[in-house]
Amino acid sequence: MTRNALFYQADSELPLVSHADGVYIRDTDGNRFIDACSGAITCNLGHNHPAVKQAISAQLDKVAFTYRTQFESQVAIDLADALTDLTDGDLDKVFFVGSGSEAVESAMKLARQYFVSIQQPQRTHFVSLRPSYHGSTLGALGLTGYQPLEAPFTDITLSSLKVPSPDFYRYQESTIEEHVNAVLEETEAAISRVGGERIIAIAIEPVGGASTGHACLTANICKASATFATVMAAC
Ligand SMILES: Cc1ncc(COP(=O)(O)O)c(C=O)c1O
Repeated sequence: MTRNALFYQADSELPLVSHADGVYIRDTDGNRFIDACSGAITCNLGHNHPAVKQAISAQLDKVAFTYRTQFESQVAIDLADALTDLTDGDLDKVFFVGSGSEAVESAMKLARQYFVSIQQPQRTHFVSLRPSYHGSTLGALGLTGYQPLEAPFTDITLSSLKVPSPDFYRYQESTIEEHVNAVLEETEAAISRVGGERIIAIAIEPVGGASTGHACLTANICKASATFATVMAAC
């Protein structure tokens, strides 16, 4: 039965949020909840943070929004500089978008555009892991390795080459090293079948999120990612 006009809500009745402070969310019945993962990992500084509220309010007092093709924005410049400083010089450009899905779409388009501009238009395939989650838009959904989300759209998405994600919790081999090697062998075989010269990029979640429940150990994922990068560099 429809309770209100909101689409895509859970079937069951959920607590109606009243307000939140720090890690706590309160509902209109007076219950208090710990926001253990800040919703979809979106309020990482906590709710009702005075410095965040002050910064938003100060900016709204000046200007709410201008578009990048018409105006420069000092706060956008400062934030981009602060972000690149965090990468120790490895990355030197920032492109702001409104969501993770848009970020993935933008990265896919940038990578494809790069290869078109260097006369390698035959590169049409992305590689991603299964399971994985990369977003809700059609391009990001094409990278996503999660059957229930993919199923209705496989005929109309740009599908990627899905290779197994290292699973350090349920691996079948006797050691993690053997497991990583088995995963990499499958990855190399899958890439060879398509042809390395047709690959645009590989998309990897450094720490698995929505479809893996953080099942992977960060240190081992880094090791596996580094080896994945080597495999890709060999393409
Ligand atoms: C690795 C990863 N990429 C992309 C997304 C999509 O982000 P958004 O929901 O902001 O579109 C998510 C969201 O959980 C994610 O975990």
